[in-house]
Amino acid sequence: MRRLVALLSFYLSFPHGEFRIYRMDGSIQADAPGFRYLLDPIHEVIHTKRGDNVTLPCVLRTRPKSYKVKWTKINHADPLENIILITNGYRHKNYNQLSRRSYLRRGHRHDASMVITNVTLEDEGRYRCQLVNGLEDESLSLTLRLDGVVFPYQPSQGRYKLNYYEALLACEQQDARLATYPQLYQAWTEGLEWCNAGWLLDGTVHYPIIVPREPCGGNILPGIRTYGTKDKVKDTFDAFCFTSALKGHVYFSMGPMNYTEAVQRCRSQGAAIAKVGQLYAAWMFARLDRCDGGWLADASVRLPIIIPRDRCGGYPDPGVRTFGFPNKEHRKYGVYCYTLK
Ligand SMILES: *[C@@H]1O[C@H](CO)[C@@H](O)[C@H](O)[C@H]1NC(C)=O
Ligand SMILES: *[C@@H]1O[C@H](CO)[C@@H](O)[C@H](O)[C@H]1NC(C)=O
Ligand SMILES: *[C@@H]1O[C@H](CO)[C@@H](O)[C@H](O)[C@H]1NC(C)=O
Repeated sequence: MRRLVALLSFYLSFPHGEFRIYRMDGSIQADAPGFRYLLDPIHEVIHTKRGDNVTLPCVLRTRPKSYKVKWTKINHADPLENIILITNGYRHKNYNQLSRRSYLRRGHRHDASMVITNVTLEDEGRYRCQLVNGLEDESLSLTLRLDGVVFPYQPSQGRYKLNYYEALLACEQQDARLATYPQLYQAWTEGLEWCNAGWLLDGTVHYPIIVPREPCGGNILPGIRTYGTKDKVKDTFDAFCFTSALKGHVYFSMGPMNYTEAVQRCRSQGAAIAKVGQLYAAWMFARLDRCDGGWLADASVRLPIIIPRDRCGGYPDPGVRTFGFPNKEHRKYGVYCYTLK
């Protein structure tokens, strides 16, 4: 029954004019000029979020007599082909870390779609499904995008203190990853403004401006200002980090506490003091809304606002606000804790 439904929807998805070349048993005249085995993808950009399972569609019109399907991740910076899996009939070999979380869906006899389970931040990017069929290989490409949030990051030492490698690490330590240009671009359309330049994953440096002004690149049109590619070791900037959905949740615990007490409080409740990325993810995906400044793992103090209100700092827009890095001895704040439960 499932197969019948799959086959039916397969027929129905073709425009009228192509119908005649299909025979009822699902076979096809595959020698027509310009014939392609792989169907064009319905959506070239697939959206998902961290922790989800996602399917990258790749469907054959019909099956050649003998063939393999090869899935690769496209990485222009890496000269080696990054193979995720290859199928040959019903056998496949898995190659790398992503392979261990991926398998072929095989929803029906023409299905070569790949499922990625437990999506990670590193899975974002472009993928290729390639039909290896003797002389004429065919392929299609898809882009996997994660829904999430970009946040600028400065360490406690202040502005422009991170070279590229330190920026990579800083984002990782906040449960995030250096953002890509498309991620920064999307964040800018959603209202991100930062008048300091920060590293992106590809080693370029940018900053997003909504209200143009003299100290932030001049009074020209709003947009993403760029410094281009910088020296990864010698040049230092801020970082733009990206994070996506969170397994578990973040909650607030009332102070006043100093930093040491804050760490203790979360621990005594079987949780951990939250990282900056975890607070952003909770704000974005769980709509965490608190008018209280709380310590975070990096010893910064922040508060997540969904509904702006006067007696809550008076900020006009939703966002995660920061009090910077107060003295760790100050007994003034609550704490944000993270727990898997
Ligand atoms: C993803 O798939 C695995 C099995 O392949 C399943 O155990 C898990 O619950 C799924 N996760 C989600 C978020 O659906
Ligand atoms: C999913 O990935 C995360 C991070 O890589 C890992 O901590 C977690 O154990 C994984 N979960 C499953 C069900 O594989
Ligand atoms: C925080 O307060 C406790 C006393 O409640 C004190 O023992 C500890 O040294 C303080 N820590 C810091 C970093 O000020």
